[in-house]
Amino acid sequence: MAVPLALAPMAGVSDLPYRLLARECGADITITEFTSSAGLSREVANSWLKLESDEREQPFIPQIFGGDVNEMVTTVEMLQGKADIIDLNFGCPAPKITKICAGAALMGQPDDLVAITEACINASDVPVTAKLRMGTGYMENNIAELAPRLEDAGVMRLCVHGRTLKQRYTGEADWGTIREVVEAVDIPVFANGDITDAQSAQACLEATQAAGLMIGRGAIGRPMIFNEIKSELGWCNSDAPWDSVDDFAIRSWCWNRYLELARETTGLQSKWLNRHAVAFTKGLPGAKNARKVIAKDRDTEAVASGIQNWLQEKSA
Ligand SMILES: Cc1cc2nc3c(=O)[nH]c(=O)nc-3n(C[C@H](O)[C@H](O)[C@H](O)COP(=O)(O)O)c2cc1C
Repeated sequence: MAVPLALAPMAGVSDLPYRLLARECGADITITEFTSSAGLSREVANSWLKLESDEREQPFIPQIFGGDVNEMVTTVEMLQGKADIIDLNFGCPAPKITKICAGAALMGQPDDLVAITEACINASDVPVTAKLRMGTGYMENNIAELAPRLEDAGVMRLCVHGRTLKQRYTGEADWGTIREVVEAVDIPVFANGDITDAQSAQACLEATQAAGLMIGRGAIGRPMIFNEIKSELGWCNSDAPWDSVDDFAIRSWCWNRYLELARETTGLQSKWLNRHAVAFTKGLPGAKNARKVIAKDRDTEAVASGIQNWLQEKSA
């Protein structure tokens, strides 16, 4: 059975043009990278820049994090009229986040996590969703107990990454635990972790019975993954936006489209462009040479056209 596919929020990856591109490639849901409620509530310009959107991104789902309930509530209030849905991050394992007891560290303080969620929901006219891990890994996993509490608090949808905070990105995602969550609540649960192609998407769906799938690392440099999964699993009849089956040609289409979308929205920004340039060419024969343009030339237009020309030349 077809389920919605989401591009995972990824700091440094899921910028606005990339989210728009992922949608054109078949993603049904996109979410901004996590953004600090401390910064947003103090109107720090850089924080608000991370929450840029575009009318083509509907629903617009900013993801926020923080351990201070007042900052989280103020941010939720500031997002009214802008966000269609607000996603709360309780999954980030980065030490700079967990040391302020935000992100996945809050899973070790479940009462605080629920209190923050309740306060955000009370302050919001738009639905609130939450993204979590299985637990901290320093105590027994608690996602299956927490999920019903979040459902009672009024969370619209949960996304569970099948790892603990302690695991960060090591080991295998535990889809069995995600299934326990699916069975513990009536709200939709998205499964996340280790979906990299149609086979793993199908296997994850069967193992978890989730209402949707979220894809992170498998979509870095490979926005076409959404279309691949849908067409390989027979989920849609809609044609791919590219008209080739050649890997280079598809990547070339995606890269060109990323550049167009970036020019239309945020402009070409080297911090994103360079990372995408590496990711879009990863694993391709001769990519090392193509990437020299990034090191040699810091000019974004040169990087954009260097990769563009290389992919085009190699296309069948
Ligand atoms: C580079 C990178 C940045 C990430 N940034 C975020 C983030 O901002 N917010 C979040 O909830 N998760 C973030 N994550 C976690 C992903 O959303 C996802 O949960 C994780 O990668 C597992 O899914 P995957 O196996 O499909 O990659 C990030 C992951 C990566 C690799």
